[in-house]
Amino acid sequence: MSPTENFPTFIYGTAWKEERTSSLVSLAVKNGFRAIDTANQKKHYREDFVGETLKELYKEIPREQFWLQSKYTYVRGQDHRLPYNPDDDYPRQVKDSFESSLKNLHTDYLDSYLLHGPMSFEGFTTEDQQVWKTMEELHKIGQTKIIGVSNMKLQQLKDLFTSAHIKPMTVQNRCYAEHGWDRGVRQFCLENKIVYQGFSLLTANRQVVADPGVRKIAEKYSCMVAQVIFCFCKHVGILPITGTTDEKHMQEDLRSFEIELTSTEIEFIENSFY
Ligand SMILES: NC(=O)c1ccc[n+]([C@@H]2O[C@H](COP(=O)([O-])OP(=O)(O)OC[C@H]3O[C@@H](n4cnc5c(N)ncnc54)[C@H](OP(=O)(O)O)[C@@H]3O)[C@@H](O)[C@H]2O)c1
Repeated sequence: MSPTENFPTFIYGTAWKEERTSSLVSLAVKNGFRAIDTANQKKHYREDFVGETLKELYKEIPREQFWLQSKYTYVRGQDHRLPYNPDDDYPRQVKDSFESSLKNLHTDYLDSYLLHGPMSFEGFTTEDQQVWKTMEELHKIGQTKIIGVSNMKLQQLKDLFTSAHIKPMTVQNRCYAEHGWDRGVRQFCLENKIVYQGFSLLTANRQVVADPGVRKIAEKYSCMVAQVIFCFCKHVGILPITGTTDEKHMQEDLRSFEIELTSTEIEFIENSFY
């Protein structure tokens, strides 16, 4: 089975949009996005506003045509607006957060559910194990098709992979060109049929956006530098997330995959900033 089965080719991200979330999700869908990334974390995401828009959109576009991804976030990543009782144990917190996500998004299942980030900067802790086990249960009973993790270092991912009964199916990480576009984690994902989702592809890589060599590639294909980066992602197996607020950029982002870079160009982008 292909690891990309059940995955989209491009994801629209909804972080930091606050009250603009509703109108921007609507605009993204109007322009062709069907995959939406959010989190039950009001500090950075308005999952409830994503859902308000989806509720209206479901009247025209069936739920099954969307790909919805949300996240369980530990207390340390939240503000006071928690989707669970922080005094409860982790399995209860995950179940309550997940249930609240379903309500927010007006759906009875998710396509993908992520642990937003591990408890500690190093290691996959017993708390993380408890969370993962609960996510495995949600997957087993069909509440989420995919389970995965975010903000993971290579060793943490390896630890999870070794201990998990159901292996992570996706990893969502900030993707720095200066770290070989998260080379170690990407390589592990490729070897283990895990889909790698990359975010901050433009904002974490301003040196790539400004690079004369990359600009020359964009000129060659008469496209924008952002499109070259998203196209590069396609070639190296990164599932890109964009959080653009601009309709023109939405359209350009989705058209990125029409471009086919040469192997020399791919190699140049992959290795020049490492
Ligand atoms: N798991 C996590 O911890 C985590 C953390 C951060 C983000 N994320 C996810 O990733 C999503 C994307 O976040 P991000 O950090 O990559 O930043 P982003 O929100 O996608 O920021 C992209 C920036 O690049 C600009 N831009 C210029 N040309 C663009 C183009 N053609 N296409 C897209 N953007 C263009 C955008 O401006 P315009 O608006 O003017 O286009 C925007 O300022 C978030 O919404 C969230 O869903 C997850």
